[in-house]
Amino acid sequence: MIGIDFGYSSTKVVVMDRGKLFRKLLLPPGVAVPYIKSRRINITGGKSRFMKMKAKKVSEIDAIAKGAAYLSKKKKFLVASIGTGTCIVNYDKTIKHTCGSGLGGGTILGLGKLLVGTTDVSEIENLASRGNLDNVDLRIKDIVGSGIGNLKGSLTASNFSKLRLKRKTDLAVGIINLVAEGVGVLIGYAAKANKQQDVVIVGRTINIPQFRKRLSFTLRLFKLNVIFPKDAEFATAIGATL
Ligand SMILES: Nc1ncnc2c1ncn2[C@@H]1O[C@H](COP(=O)(O)OP(=O)(O)OP(=O)(O)O)[C@@H](O)[C@H]1O
Ligand SMILES: [Mg+2]
Repeated sequence: MIGIDFGYSSTKVVVMDRGKLFRKLLLPPGVAVPYIKSRRINITGGKSRFMKMKAKKVSEIDAIAKGAAYLSKKKKFLVASIGTGTCIVNYDKTIKHTCGSGLGGGTILGLGKLLVGTTDVSEIENLASRGNLDNVDLRIKDIVGSGIGNLKGSLTASNFSKLRLKRKTDLAVGIINLVAEGVGVLIGYAAKANKQQDVVIVGRTINIPQFRKRLSFTLRLFKLNVIFPKDAEFATAIGATL
């Protein structure tokens, strides 16, 4: 059984046999999928509706949830697929699209192009690794001198508000932080609203180390159990076959 996820930024192909992942392939968008000799192909993802190929179309929401269940081995959880944008799905006997956000990996690349002059992920990661968030984000302690109630002073009060110099390193880490905290707070509240303790994160954006770290940190504030499964970028393609 073959699953193909035609995402906005990349195409993911998996070969599954009797519930086991055999092959995985990540292709840039628009690149033709290598000829596949199989009568059982399921396709999903935003761009799948434009594909004129002999295959069964599967709901992306269902594919995200089933793929996350497969990779995490959980039966009840909230899943966030952080790809170009963010899609949040609740899995608890039934599968329900809970909410989402226009903030995602695509935002990091778009702002990267604008502010640091590159959409190359490894370059953005490299710049961010040398950046200092204290030169970008306003922290709670910058306003009140300490924390407030149970919020630590080091938490962000306002992303980008403290920016003075336009150092690429600081801008890069600021961009990643903006997106990680923005989706993190949304995921945190979505988990609480759906009474979920386990949160599974899939999509390719978590391959950006600074993003993953900041997202984990933000979700820890909500006291959630966060799972970053292996092969997370293939979750939707895997789920399409299940
Ligand atoms: N090596 C990489 N090359 C390109 N993008 C990467 C890389 N590593 C991480 N990313 C991030 O992954 C994001 C795309 O994730 P993914 O491929 O899961 O999205 P998608 O499935 O195509 O989009 P969507 O699900 O929103 O339709 C990019 O916007 C980028 O921020
Ligand atoms: Mg996707």
